[in-house]
Amino acid sequence: MNILSVLTQAVSAAFAERGYDASYGAVTVSNRPDLCHFQCNGALPAAKACKKNPLAIAGEVAELLQNDDRFASVETAPPGFINLRLSDAYLASLAKAMAADERLRLPLMEQKTIVIDYGGPNTAKPLHVGHLRSAIIGESLCRLARFLGHKVVGDIHMGDWGLQMGLVFAEMEARGLGADDVTADDLTEIYPAASAKAKADPAFAEKAAARTAGLQRGDAELRALWKKLRDLSVDDQKRSYDILGVSFDYWYGESDAEPYVPRVMDILRRGGLLRESDGALVVDVALPEDKEPMPPMLIQKSNGADIYGTTDLGTLLQRKEDFDPDEIWYVTDNRQSFHFKQLFRCAKLAGLPGKTECLHLPFGTMNGKDGKPYKTREGGVMRLSDLIETVTENALRKVSESDIPMTGEERAEAARKLGMAALKVGDMQNHRTKDYIFDMERFLSSEGKTGPYLQYTAVRIRSVLAKAKDAGFAAGELLPPETDAERDLLLALPLVPDALLRAFADKAPSVLCEILFDIAGRFNRFYFEHKVIQCPDGALRASRLALLELTDRVLTALLDILGVEIPSHM
Ligand code: ARG
Repeated sequence: MNILSVLTQAVSAAFAERGYDASYGAVTVSNRPDLCHFQCNGALPAAKACKKNPLAIAGEVAELLQNDDRFASVETAPPGFINLRLSDAYLASLAKAMAADERLRLPLMEQKTIVIDYGGPNTAKPLHVGHLRSAIIGESLCRLARFLGHKVVGDIHMGDWGLQMGLVFAEMEARGLGADDVTADDLTEIYPAASAKAKADPAFAEKAAARTAGLQRGDAELRALWKKLRDLSVDDQKRSYDILGVSFDYWYGESDAEPYVPRVMDILRRGGLLRESDGALVVDVALPEDKEPMPPMLIQKSNGADIYGTTDLGTLLQRKEDFDPDEIWYVTDNRQSFHFKQLFRCAKLAGLPGKTECLHLPFGTMNGKDGKPYKTREGGVMRLSDLIETVTENALRKVSESDIPMTGEERAEAARKLGMAALKVGDMQNHRTKDYIFDMERFLSSEGKTGPYLQYTAVRIRSVLAKAKDAGFAAGELLPPETDAERDLLLALPLVPDALLRAFADKAPSVLCEILFDIAGRFNRFYFEHKVIQCPDGALRASRLALLELTDRVLTALLDILGVEIPSHM
């Protein structure tokens, strides 16, 4: 069981024994580490409820815990805190239990099936930096949920069915280009040109809309062209996802929802939810308690074309039938919040999700140093492939500074690992809902809260372990800590299962970055202050090696969930 639950159980039992509600026993990590390791503030609300003195209640409860040898001390502090310090022997036994458990003492949870919708690239449009966040946060959430034992279905949900297709078709037509005349690179120029043209030229816009509708109705020629362009885009996008180390169980797109759309329309119609408005079909999704205006959701345009919301309804039906998930998580930027609000309301009115819980997990923007969305030097939208290239080039510069002999290929691979760690940790150390500033130099630095720093720490531990092995030293019995640095490290490790649970509950990889930095900092201090291989006392050396092995296992597991690879040397 996770340590916070273990301690909460102990303190809750003491509250109950004193005749108070057990729920007052919740234990948290101390916010005054100078005073104690953990604390319980339950005596304060208990006192309010029973009209008693909080410090007196804290005292009654603390007294019962005095004889529990898991605690080195149980103290009370005004106005009614209970301050707990764990005993050295208990800390060592916690670490030993963790080392012996494949799941690092994560409690067993009820297994859920979770569909995670992330990536979300669009056919014929280049991946841009917004897609970076969806990809790396989504990948990390998949790994986290799997690590906790859930069944995860990762779906890329490509935007391959919208107006952008019609725009590209119309522009290719105007330029006299066929399917075989364009490359993925050409598409990235054709789409914005067509989009600009449609804004200025209503006849062109109409043509693009008609082509989109034609594609959706099944025009054979347009379908063939569509398939070609989609394959081109996918090949191109796969390259970026490969470098990032992001993968998907399903490469479904909006187009795969098409067969479900007629049934969705049927359900909406039978439910009396569809209403005609200016030749289009809409569903009213406003609620009486809305504080902001909530316009009806557009389901079908007057020209018969489906739109984003409609395919999303179809996809929901598809996911219900294929996977019957307990939850669906949609990982997109926060500008789509309105879309998902409308979508979830409409789906609920239609009874589509049933018992499936649909959640939008929004994320903020990656900004430049000027605080505005990250742009190219020319002020255009930054392509993801360009960003990846710049980061890897800079990482290569760093790697080349090292004096470790490497072949060109090894160097390139080391640069990829370093660069992607910089990018991922630079991003995910911020809570996903926040905007953050892309700062390449800082992200790539091996000092401070960065991916390379975490990699460096892991590499250092592994190199000590390898050297110990070469010297014939094995890890042994983990002894109770004797110094502050040892105790501090031992105190952080049992909190890992709690961090994993919190990261999962909040769907926030940033929680894992936080505990990683904490553990890395504590380890580096420990390593600075203590001898390991050179330790003259054999039992102590074996104990320290065991501590290093556990730290290595924990760092490796957490970094893997973030999608950060550990280089063989740095
Ligand atoms: N293609 C969309 C975009 O580029 C993201 C798709 C998100 N998923 C969904 N089911 N709507 O922003």
